[in-house]
Amino acid sequence: MKIVVLYGGTSTERDVSLVTGRAVAGALTELGHDVLLVDPAVGDSPTGAREAIAAAAIGGKPPEPTGETGNALRAVAGAAVSGADVVFVALHGGTGEDGTVQGLLELAGKRYTGSGVLSCAIAMDKRASKLMFREAGVPTPDWRVVAGGSPGSPAGAGRSEPAGGFSARSCIVPGAPSFPVDLPRDLSPEQAASIAAELGGYPLIVKPNDQGSTVGLTVVQSEADLPEAIALAARYSRHVLVETFIPGRELTVAVLDGEPLPVVEIEPHSGLYDYESKYTSGRSDYTCPAKLPDDVAADLSELAVRAYAALGCAGYARVDFRLDDGHEPSCLEVNTVPGMTATSLVPMAAAAAGMTFPELTDRIIALALR
Ligand SMILES: Nc1ncnc2c1ncn2[C@@H]1O[C@H](COP(=O)(O)OP(=O)(O)OP(=O)(O)O)[C@@H](O)[C@H]1O
Ligand SMILES: [Mg+2]
Repeated sequence: MKIVVLYGGTSTERDVSLVTGRAVAGALTELGHDVLLVDPAVGDSPTGAREAIAAAAIGGKPPEPTGETGNALRAVAGAAVSGADVVFVALHGGTGEDGTVQGLLELAGKRYTGSGVLSCAIAMDKRASKLMFREAGVPTPDWRVVAGGSPGSPAGAGRSEPAGGFSARSCIVPGAPSFPVDLPRDLSPEQAASIAAELGGYPLIVKPNDQGSTVGLTVVQSEADLPEAIALAARYSRHVLVETFIPGRELTVAVLDGEPLPVVEIEPHSGLYDYESKYTSGRSDYTCPAKLPDDVAADLSELAVRAYAALGCAGYARVDFRLDDGHEPSCLEVNTVPGMTATSLVPMAAAAAGMTFPELTDRIIALALR
């Protein structure tokens, strides 16, 4: 089969995507497919699996947000994608995971892996996801939305937005409508105090509404640190979430074609599952299947499938949870293009279910063609 792997891209998760793309391309080549890799940051200049760009190693820090959307349009309209039987989307974050590239593939009449336009768009937007989780009875930490900034434009990032206002500018799709915010970016001390009280007090989590890899996220210990945390998150997103901090354990459940794979537990040495803990080897311990009472594991699996279904996901996805000391789960988010390096969490869960990495990639391709 002729397969194009879209990888790289322009998001802050570019480096991770380069590694995912190469790993997937390697596995698909091993299975005997005819594989080309295309980087939408560049356009339609395909490379073979062997020549594909390597991220030297995923660095300790993500690349700065640029606000650039690259040449995705040219990449999707180009000869390599046109000639492919199916496209494996290995782009994390930004336009590759928010439904935009999926929309281009739809317009080009191409089959592609994973979820469709709407599911990707909702999953990438944490606030929208949380509203859907609530509707579906999936517990999620309580939150408030604060006006953010405009990625790639440090000047724009300083703008504050009136509470309740709609803005015509969006970081991803120029002209796309935005949603009302609960609070302006420059919180008054009274507003900060009332958010903290409503969300159960400090610590609080402050994060961009639509990033991945823990980019721009802060655990805020006191009110004095809130403005800086909001300013940081605002560099990456038009909207900032302030969320109740859930102490406890870090768990994730991969869902493949609507079925849960074994639960993975992550124990980051630093205490926070941040960019470095995710991508620098040896910084976190992983256990799969997680050591959990059977009923808790079953509960997490059921909630993961419910979250996947609530967002209308297809193919595969990874659902992230916190589990408090009373074994109450809280769903943080659904990742529609989860990491797929040979050491990522979805392949780890698949391995625990007896599936090799090439078998997993083959299954994802088969689901795209179904
Ligand atoms: N409400 C919370 N309470 C406790 N920890 C949290 C909370 N929200 C986020 N975290 C921590 O920060 C990490 C990243 O958060 P989250 O999954 O929401 O963002 P992300 O950047 O989209 O991640 P991903 O790389 O999975 O796409 C979580 O895995 C968790 O360790
Ligand atoms: Mg996550």
